[in-house]
Amino acid sequence: MCGIVGYIGYEQAGPFLLDGLEKLEYRGYDSAGVCLNDGNALVVKKSKGKLKVLKDLTEDGRTLKGTVGIGHTRWATHGEPSDVNAHPHLSESGRFAVVHNGIIENYQQLKDYLTSKGIEFRSMTDTEVIAQLIEYYYKGDLIDTVIKVLEKLDGSYALGVISQENPDEIVAVRKESPLIIGLGEKENFIASDVTAILSKTRKIYRLENNEIAILNRDSVKIINTDKDEVKKEIETVNWDINAAEKGGYEHFMFKEIMEQPKAVSDTISPRIKNGRVVLDEIKLTKEQLQNFTKINILACGSAYHVGVVAKYIFEKMLRIPVEVDLASEFRYRDPIINDKVLTVVISQSGETADTKEAMKEAQRRGSHVISIVNVVGSAIAVESNDVIYTWAGPEIAVATTKAYSTQLAVIYLMALYFGDMLGTIVEDEYKALVAELEHLPERIEEILGHKEKVQYLASKYFNTKDVFFIGRNIDYALSLEGSLKLKEISYIHSEAYAAGELKHGTISLIEQGTPVIALATHEELIGKIISNIEEVKTRGAQVMCIACDNHPEIEKIGQTVFIPKSCDMLLPSLAVIPLQLFAYYVASLKGCDIDKPRNLAKSVTVE
Ligand code: F6R
Repeated sequence: MCGIVGYIGYEQAGPFLLDGLEKLEYRGYDSAGVCLNDGNALVVKKSKGKLKVLKDLTEDGRTLKGTVGIGHTRWATHGEPSDVNAHPHLSESGRFAVVHNGIIENYQQLKDYLTSKGIEFRSMTDTEVIAQLIEYYYKGDLIDTVIKVLEKLDGSYALGVISQENPDEIVAVRKESPLIIGLGEKENFIASDVTAILSKTRKIYRLENNEIAILNRDSVKIINTDKDEVKKEIETVNWDINAAEKGGYEHFMFKEIMEQPKAVSDTISPRIKNGRVVLDEIKLTKEQLQNFTKINILACGSAYHVGVVAKYIFEKMLRIPVEVDLASEFRYRDPIINDKVLTVVISQSGETADTKEAMKEAQRRGSHVISIVNVVGSAIAVESNDVIYTWAGPEIAVATTKAYSTQLAVIYLMALYFGDMLGTIVEDEYKALVAELEHLPERIEEILGHKEKVQYLASKYFNTKDVFFIGRNIDYALSLEGSLKLKEISYIHSEAYAAGELKHGTISLIEQGTPVIALATHEELIGKIISNIEEVKTRGAQVMCIACDNHPEIEKIGQTVFIPKSCDMLLPSLAVIPLQLFAYYVASLKGCDIDKPRNLAKSVTVE
């Protein structure tokens, strides 16, 4: 959600800024802009809509003059997507320019105050107050001024500031919104995430809350708001640069679907040693674990769906009650959480505002938090008590696939590790599950090898308006994810229902030809889900099933995608593959913008 990039060096900044913004497109945006110091003045170019408009306007940045600049992709919060509301924002005289990610909660009071002093605003944004405040308080020292302005701001921000007064400097700050500093040879960078600067450098500083970075061409200095220098470790990013490129695939989403065997293997393999799951990153002792009376899972969207799967698995294997909460709801319901509750937070980006705030609420109430996070060094990873990283690599498509799969993999590892510690899994079952887990990447690969069957089924359904997903037990948790995947990228209305619940109301929506996708992988309930499928078929539904290959009879009641039979715990990782492919092929046939669906952002940094 919003992307920041900045360059200071000896080369023309324009092409890098445009390239960096392109790398950040995946975060979600509806306008884009850049500001460069051309030697005489700060020059802004910005436009509503796709980055392509700005690229065409500036010939991919080549017509922009200057070796210092900042750029931004904006996901509208305050004020509609428009040229004027796009960032960067200038102060009234045009001497200061600001890009901002986050929300200034008290912007209206600040705006009223500045307006009463005769300052005229051009945009509807909260960000413009920052540029205007800088100019209002500026008395010759930009750093002092930025520190003074920070004192006035409530809310979250990552900021990049350039000025006509200090033409050889970028000032960057963060509070609750991500920002990194890239360290190059005779050039330095700022960016919302590493994908924007990977083509230039792998050496970065991660700014922490209230740290201020002062970037010159040949140096970077980090200070705190008392102006004391902060000594930071340089981090070397080991992400493969190709991982953030399409590599011949038409869409990132498809590439990421195909990368799942490797992502799952990278997540699992280093944590299985001599047939036992070892989670060195968890510091909890057996005694601490035995003390927990409840597990509380917090997450949003697809990560929440992983949490719903985890509830079934943890309760069965650990015999501890589990509650799963949508992070956005959790902290407003006065939750019953204390030091006897273990909290598990799941987030790909590690920056989702709702999840981060829910985590802090759980910590405030004494709960120990284990986070499952993909982005190394992100806020949730850093602020949780323990973190287990998913090794999915950069996920660029807005709709998550490989991060979801690696999150599931971590849930299995946790279930086995804790089950072993607590003695709730018998040794034979433990060994069988670990052995199956080690084969999971191959099984995913096998399903991907039959993708054409799903493509064929997608061609039969893509014109539909509504789809229902049904399942029981873990299959119900999976149907939530299948439904979200389809609706978010194909814009087809879809709903997920616990199959047994249909007859309590929803079945009235089933009519001749209504598509129903039934998940029928859960062995114990196979008879029950078959009855539910018959119920909807009798009322005219057109049924597609996902089932294990030990139940060939299911093909008689609906067109079926078979997955290899595995133990129940691991089936979600297999059943989700056809669901992801189905959503992808349907969206592709409809000609949708698959990697960047309308209105959505990859990293949701506002509540
Ligand atoms: C859906 C999707 C979202 C995210 C959700 C949480 O495909 O990707 O629903 O799962 O926004 O994001 P993270 O995992 O970054 O906290």
